[in-house]
Amino acid sequence: MSSSSYYYYSFNFSVIICILLVVLSIFSHSNAQLNSNFYENNCPNVSDIVRCVLQEALQSDARIGASLLRIHFHDCFVNGCDASILLDNNAKTKIVSEKNAAPNANSLRGFNVVDNIKVAVENCCPGVVSCADILALAAESSVSLAGGPSWNVLLGRRDSRRANQGGANISIPSPLEDINKITTKFSAVGLTITDLVALSGAHTFGRAQCRLFRERLYNFNGTGKPDPTLNTNYLAKLMKICPKKGSNTALANLDLTTPNKFDNNYFANLQNKKGLLESDQKLFSKNSASEITNIIKTFSRDQNVFFQSFVESMINMGNISPLTGTNGEIRLDCKRVN
Ligand code: HEM
Ligand SMILES: *[C@@H]1O[C@H](CO)[C@@H](O)[C@H](O)[C@H]1NC(C)=O
Ligand SMILES: *[C@@H]1O[C@H](CO)[C@@H](O)[C@H](O)[C@H]1NC(C)=O
Ligand SMILES: *[C@@H]1O[C@H](CO)[C@@H](O)[C@H](O)[C@H]1NC(C)=O
Repeated sequence: MSSSSYYYYSFNFSVIICILLVVLSIFSHSNAQLNSNFYENNCPNVSDIVRCVLQEALQSDARIGASLLRIHFHDCFVNGCDASILLDNNAKTKIVSEKNAAPNANSLRGFNVVDNIKVAVENCCPGVVSCADILALAAESSVSLAGGPSWNVLLGRRDSRRANQGGANISIPSPLEDINKITTKFSAVGLTITDLVALSGAHTFGRAQCRLFRERLYNFNGTGKPDPTLNTNYLAKLMKICPKKGSNTALANLDLTTPNKFDNNYFANLQNKKGLLESDQKLFSKNSASEITNIIKTFSRDQNVFFQSFVESMINMGNISPLTGTNGEIRLDCKRVN
């Protein structure tokens, strides 16, 4: 073989490798394009702005951080983390809002604070930061300001031009579903059992409405009796907050011990039969998989392990099918497409 043909072949080979790498990077997980320095040049202190507006909102509403974290979750589970959740009904752009889907209607809250954050960010960096990234940043600030872990949020998501109300109806877990069903919904978006347990730890703060746990107190599974997996003192407390014929919207703390703090008490609560939602308690009860109960015991024993795992799982959740590159848009008003 002559040296020229040697070079010819090796040139060809490296061209093929190059093309392969480019093709791989396009078809591999698009989340490879998210990175924590995405706004380093065009909006370097976006995370401070988000944090600052949130801090102010917390002064008058201790629950708002929990509510914003939940919006991010309900966004990511439907068509990925693309701020589709934030779009209002709009006949002209044919938006049927996810806000009116069964898991969200009269339940998700905090949209006005998202708008306040967006306005503050637009003031500093007009047309640069996506609403989807604002939700991811707000989720991190909510957790860290409540005493939980902080982390570098991966950024570079863009905003969708459509919503998927039907998807929201079927993809977001319900508190009345069994753990197999909920696990299936997590794995449908690429999340594992460990992600499920770690992210459920978000129920260490925030509230739930009476209508979402009343059956447990008075007519569990059609028995006419309370859920036997409820601690009796806790049951009595909940019956006061949520009388049989009382308001549907009365609120109970998801974590009875430290309602506004992001800590690992949620996992101790489950072991003490003090999970508020039926789906919470089903993670730790007689018939729970040992894979799940072992993780709960570990998180409850060591808060650092929980925090580390929670951060990993938040990053996993934040990586669900982002729009990147030239897909989607940077919405100017989170409530409507440009
Ligand atoms: C595992 C399946 C899950 C189910 C069945 C579930 C269900 C619920 C329900 C029914 C509520 C009360 C809503 C209301 O009263 O209007 C709630 C609240 C909440 N959820 Fe979940 N959730 C799940 C997972 C998650 C995840 C993964 C996160 C975030 C990482 C999360 C964060 C929250 C927060 C922070 C609240 C309190 C919100 C507030 O006070 O406004 N949940 N959840
Ligand atoms: C953003 O950063 C600039 C330059 O570092 C600084 O002057 C400004 O005060 C910062 N704004 C906020 C809201 O943190
Ligand atoms: C989603 O569920 C809501 C509430 O149950 C219902 O009104 C709506 O029609 C459903 N939307 C779709 C697109 O299935
Ligand atoms: C609920 O009731 C059904 C039948 O009425 C029974 O098969 C099922 O095991 C019960 N579930 C629980 C969690 O008790």
